[in-house]
Amino acid sequence: MSIRYDDARHLLTLETLNSSYQMKIDRYGYLQHVYYGHRISGQDMSYICKEYDRGFSGNPYAARNDRGFSLDTEGQEFSTFGTGDYRIHGLRVRNADGSCLSSLFYEKHEIVKGKYSLPGLPAMYGAADDAETLVVTLSDRATGLKARLYYGVFESLDVITRAAEFVNEGAESVCLLKAASVCLDIPYGRWDLLHFHGRHCMERQPERAPLPHGIQVVSSERGMSSHQHNPFIIVCERGADESHGDCYGLMLMYSGSFKAEAEMDQFGSSRLVMGISDTGFSWTLGRGESFFTPEAVLCFGEGLGRISHICHEAIRRHICRSRYRLEHRPVLINNWEATYFNLDEETILGLAGEAAALGIEMFVLDDGWFRGRNDDHAGLGDWYTNHEKLPHGLGALIKRIKALGLMFGLWVEPEMVNEESDLFREHPDWVLRAPAREPAAGRSQFVLDLSREDVQEHLYQAMARLLKENDIGYIKWDMNRCICDLYSAACESGRQGEVGHRYVLGVYRLLERLTGDFPEVLFEGCAGGGGRFDAGMLYYVPQIWCSDDTDALERVEIQYGTSFGYPASSMGAHVSASPNHQTGRHMPLSTRGVVAMAGTLGYELDLRKLSDEDKEEIKRQIRQYREDEPLVHDGLYYRLTDMETLPSHAAWQYVSRDKSTSLVSVVVARTRANEPLINLRLKGLDPGAIYEIRETGEKISGAALMYGGYTLWQMHGDFPSVQLHVRTID
Ligand code: DGJ
Repeated sequence: MSIRYDDARHLLTLETLNSSYQMKIDRYGYLQHVYYGHRISGQDMSYICKEYDRGFSGNPYAARNDRGFSLDTEGQEFSTFGTGDYRIHGLRVRNADGSCLSSLFYEKHEIVKGKYSLPGLPAMYGAADDAETLVVTLSDRATGLKARLYYGVFESLDVITRAAEFVNEGAESVCLLKAASVCLDIPYGRWDLLHFHGRHCMERQPERAPLPHGIQVVSSERGMSSHQHNPFIIVCERGADESHGDCYGLMLMYSGSFKAEAEMDQFGSSRLVMGISDTGFSWTLGRGESFFTPEAVLCFGEGLGRISHICHEAIRRHICRSRYRLEHRPVLINNWEATYFNLDEETILGLAGEAAALGIEMFVLDDGWFRGRNDDHAGLGDWYTNHEKLPHGLGALIKRIKALGLMFGLWVEPEMVNEESDLFREHPDWVLRAPAREPAAGRSQFVLDLSREDVQEHLYQAMARLLKENDIGYIKWDMNRCICDLYSAACESGRQGEVGHRYVLGVYRLLERLTGDFPEVLFEGCAGGGGRFDAGMLYYVPQIWCSDDTDALERVEIQYGTSFGYPASSMGAHVSASPNHQTGRHMPLSTRGVVAMAGTLGYELDLRKLSDEDKEEIKRQIRQYREDEPLVHDGLYYRLTDMETLPSHAAWQYVSRDKSTSLVSVVVARTRANEPLINLRLKGLDPGAIYEIRETGEKISGAALMYGGYTLWQMHGDFPSVQLHVRTID
C-alpha cells in the first residue's frame, strides 16, 4: 500500500521506495501540505508545522479568534487566490458575481489501484501493480466549484504524479483564470533553482541560482514548450551535486505555454507552482462542465544524478508508448544538411545508395519534397509530391530506396500553412488570426487552427493518406515557428482565452489518432530542432530532434543540459559535415560519431563527398552503435563532468542495470599545454567486481575506478575524443 489514510490524525501519506509525501485535513477543513522528502515511514510529520500569530498574515473567518492559523503561513496542497494566502497560487477564477476569489475545503478522498489517466492529455501509465491513485475532492462552498486533486504513486520508481480536475457543480458558470497542475510547499531550507533556458540552436542550457526572497518565473508564452525554457525544473539543496543533497524534480507533461514559479516567502518557506501559463488563459465552465490540467511528474532524491535516473526511467517505461520505445532505432541518413531544398530524384537515390553501402538502415527525405516547395515561402499545407523534383512520384522513389534495403522516412510539418499554398487559398479562415488584424508570420508561415475539429480532421486525412499510399516507416513531425495571434474563428468571442490550450489538445488528438492507427511507424518530434522537447510530446513520439545545431561541440552542451530530465533514447543526434554548417567548426569524424552515438544515431551530410577512410569510419561507428545501443538507451546515465569543467573536457558514462558493462565517453573541448592527465571518477560500478577496459586491456576493481578514478593521457589535436568499454571479468 503506497497510499494510507490515518483517520484519527486526518493524515494522507503517500510512500515510494525512498520518499514520503504527506498532507493533512486541518481543523478548519483545508487540505494542508505537511511534508515531501526522504521516506519517514508512517511518522506524523505535522509536528514540524508550528503555528504562532504572525503579523499581517490574516485568519479565515472561522479562525478569526485563532490567530496562529493563517492560509498565508500554512502549507497548502492547492493554494487559491484572494482569500488570505498571499503567496503564489494554483487557482484563480472569475465567479458569476465578478469576484476572483475561491477557497477550497476537503470533502472526500478515494484510493484506487492503478494509475489514473487524463482525457485528451498525456499522462504516465502503468500496470495495476505499478501505481496507486489518490483522488482528493475539495470544494468551494460559496460557488459549488469542485477541485479533484489526482495523485499517482509509482512506488518502486520514486515518482508521484499530480493533476487537477475542476468541476463546476454550482448553479452559475465560473471562469478559470489560472489552473495549475501542481502546488508544492517546502517549508524549510535554502534552495537553488536549476532550470534549462536556451534559444534556437542552443536549447536546454542549465542555469542554477539560489532561490531568493520573491518570485522567480520560468515560462513560455510561445504556444509551444519552446527553445527558450523547458517545462522541467529541479529545486535542490544549496551545495547539492550529482550525488549528494536533497533534490526535487518537477516535469510538466505539456507542450504548450507553461509557467513554473518558485517563491521564497517572508518566513523562508518556499513554494513551487507549475502548470499551463495563465497569461492570456481563461476557460469557462458551464454547469456540470469540467476541466483537466496537464500532469506534473514529481520526484525526490539524493543528488541531481538520481533525479535524472528517475526521470529517464519514467519517460522510457511509463511515458513513451511507441513500439520503438525500448527497441533498436534504425540508424538514419537525413538529406537536409546535404541538399536543403535542392533535392531531386538522382541526388536522393545517390545518397541512399551510399547510405546502404555504409550499413545505414533508413533514408529520411526532409523538407522540400512536396508541391510548390522550393524554398520556405511556399508549399506548406499541400502534402502532395513535387513532380518537378520527383518526376516519377514519391511512391516510385520509395520503392527504389526500399530496393536498396533501406527503410523510408518522411518529413512533414502538418500544423503549418504558407500563404502561397492551395490549402490557404481554399481555407484562409483555418489559420489562427484575429478579425481585422493581419497575423504575424514566422519563417513565412501561418499556424493552422488546430483547436478546430475540421482542421484536425483534414490533417488526419492528409497524413493518413500519405501513410496508407506509401511504404513509410518513420515520420519527422516538424513545427517551425512560435504561435501568436491566438484567435479562432470557430470559437465564440468570450472564450478566446481557451484557444491556446485547445490548440495543444488538437495536436495531441491528431497524434493520438495517427500513432494509434499506424503503430508500426516511428515518429520523431521536432520544432526547429528542440523547440518542443517535453514529456508531453514524448508520450506520442519516442524521440525528438534535439537541436538544429549539429556542431558536435555545441551538441555536447545541448545534450548535457537535456540529460538532466530526458534519456539518451529520446535525443535525435546526427553526424553532420565538417566544417559544420552552423558554426563553421572543423571536427574529426570520430568525435562527431562519439557525440551522435549519445542519442539516437543518424547521419546528415553528403555521403557522396566522403573519402574512403571516412566511409570506413562510419561503418565502424554503426557497428559500434548497434553493440552499445542497449546500454546507451536503457542503462543508467552519469554525468562525470559539470558545467565548470566543460570548457576543458566533457565526460559521461552509461552503466548496465546489472553493473556488468559500462561505456565512458570523453570529448576534449580544449587541449591545454602542460596538463597531461585527465582523471575521471567513474560511477555506478560494483565496487567488489574487477573490470577490464577493452581499449587498453587494463584490469581494475570497481572500487578503484570509482574512488581513485581512471586517468587518461591528455589527447592532442582538434577536439579529440575517446570511448572506453568497461566490462566485468568472470
Ligand atoms: C527544422 C528542422 O529542425 C530541420 O532539421 C529541418 O527539418 C528543417 N526544419 C526543414 O525545414
